[in-house]
Amino acid sequence: MQMKSFLAGGAALVLVGALGAYGVIVGGFVPVNADTRPGPIETFMAKHALHAAINRLAPRAADPVAPTQQNLLAGLTLYKQGCAVCHGLANGHASMVAKGLYQRPPQLASHGVEDDPPGVTYWKIAHGIRMTGMPSFGDSLKKRQIWELVTFLKHMNHLPAAAQSAWKLARLSN
Ligand code: HEC
Repeated sequence: MQMKSFLAGGAALVLVGALGAYGVIVGGFVPVNADTRPGPIETFMAKHALHAAINRLAPRAADPVAPTQQNLLAGLTLYKQGCAVCHGLANGHASMVAKGLYQRPPQLASHGVEDDPPGVTYWKIAHGIRMTGMPSFGDSLKKRQIWELVTFLKHMNHLPAAAQSAWKLARLSN
């Protein structure tokens, strides 16, 4: 008997909790705005979940695209087309879009990913990062193009002369 009422009490509590959560959602009390910074709990969960998932899923293969001038320029062209609006150019200034995103995209000229394993960067570009604004490019780019981007990002802070001057001259509209 005691066990039964204990279970009934538990079920009632779960029901009240679920109804409460439903009320919060349909009542419009869930924060949905992007013009704020994520709180510490959200940041902690997002960072740890991302890190653990990528550790499990990222390819361990070496980058098959050599850092030749030609490959770096190919990576730069793709970067200007698909990434610079959020991740910025050589001057490190955040665009209008980048300033308003939730999460804020790192400006890669100043907070780059040169030290990350290539497979990790490959995975992020191919699959994107859910609920951050970072798109997945697996459907729009070929594998080879994603590796060209990885190569460009890996060498962004020590590009050979011609690629470096193209990087310095790059603008969002060209
Ligand atoms: C619409 C905005 C947007 C575009 C376009 C975009 N990204 Fe991102 N990207 C983000 C955001 C936001 C994050 C941060 C995600 C987070 O906080 O976990 C991110 C994260 C990343 C990271 C991880 C950075 C780190 O410090 O670990 C890499 C690498 C990256 N993006 C590469 C790219 C590349 C390459 C492209 C273009 C092919 C691109 N992104 C296009 C928004 C964007």
